[in-house]
Amino acid sequence: MPVLRNIGFLARCLPEGAQADIHPIRNAALAWEGKTIAWIGPEVDLPSEFQAWATEDAEGRLVVPGLVDCHTHLAFGGWRSDEFEARLLGKSYLEIAAAGGGIASTVRHTREATRDALLERCRGFLVGMARLGVTTVECKSGYGLSVERELVLLEVYAELARTERMGIVSTLLGAHIVPPEYRDRRTAYVDLLVDELIPAVARARLAQFCDVFVEQSAFSVAEARRILLAGKAVGLRPKLHADQLSDGGGALLAAEVGAASADHLEYISDSGIAAMARAGVVAVSLPLASVYLGQPPLRARRLIDAGVAVGVATDFNPGSAPSYDLHLALFLACTLERMTPAEVLKGATIIAARALGLEDSAGCLAARRAADFAVIDAPDPTFWMYHFRPETCLRTVRQGETVWFRGRSPSCA
Ligand code: NIG
Ligand code: FE
Repeated sequence: MPVLRNIGFLARCLPEGAQADIHPIRNAALAWEGKTIAWIGPEVDLPSEFQAWATEDAEGRLVVPGLVDCHTHLAFGGWRSDEFEARLLGKSYLEIAAAGGGIASTVRHTREATRDALLERCRGFLVGMARLGVTTVECKSGYGLSVERELVLLEVYAELARTERMGIVSTLLGAHIVPPEYRDRRTAYVDLLVDELIPAVARARLAQFCDVFVEQSAFSVAEARRILLAGKAVGLRPKLHADQLSDGGGALLAAEVGAASADHLEYISDSGIAAMARAGVVAVSLPLASVYLGQPPLRARRLIDAGVAVGVATDFNPGSAPSYDLHLALFLACTLERMTPAEVLKGATIIAARALGLEDSAGCLAARRAADFAVIDAPDPTFWMYHFRPETCLRTVRQGETVWFRGRSPSCA
């Protein structure tokens, strides 16, 4: 039953309020019992019954809710550093994909990988993420692209949820691309998703969401609508990869089907923004992917001004975003998209939790909620984003358990 005292700046990130409203408390204390927060508030108000609890000293630092990375493609085989270099030399992402590289190349490597090899790799990534203050990760399938191999990826995530000290949310992305063996019969692949894979995933309760990559090189709006409605009919909430490389109408479809989120959105139209605002769809910004692919930054200000909640995530995958550094993604959302530090923090906590349907259980610090938090070596969120450097997370606590502890970091004094 510990009490963390001497918190210089505590960002609660409650669900209500504007994107920039992170509900700060200065000179705060946080008490937790088991997995749950028992009390939170200004230290001077700490009730007497907590005075006897074991005290820990935050030394005036920043405490934030455990970060939520609400968009990753965690399980994949191989890497694609050759494509990174080819793009630097002038080839485009779509040219590489048309030549058999891109997602199809990772599908080949992932199909060759054993379940255990995928599991071990994911475990390593999750350890690295915990060291950044992340306590919840959304994990998409999408590199198996057959009934059998997509189920393997989702089973890997189910195993991680059982064994790792990390919150895991699974998403079926069977509609990532049409796999090469279906190239000339794409309707047959959509039939396979709708008639076999989606029902199998729902029966085995292996995913909470169903995602589609809507793009010229992937799936049309009409195909995506069919897939997402089939998922919705069996309890898988829709999500979309939308308007990433061109305005393909993905944001409008997200609003139409009531998606939990639409992600990427570099090319979102004004009508897409208005539709998402009306429907309450979260926009997830993935600035690492924009940077790696040389895409324009998300028009985050336009979205926020229109009343759309903007989450921020890594999109970790071997092609468009080969980094799971959520802190870096937040920094890029500040510098490229002109989101403020408070806005990106809310975007990677309670808004990211909303994009995962977890607004009642993750991404915010309040009494009776999960004791998921990170101690950051900075006096406040603005300094954390401004003095960008490695190893700023000193401690990560998930459900009351310390899952990462550094104690000291290269000083920010
Ligand atoms: O989110 N846009 C589609 N899917 C991934 C890219 C995956 C890959 O390149 O392997 C994305 O950027
Ligand atoms: Fe993605």
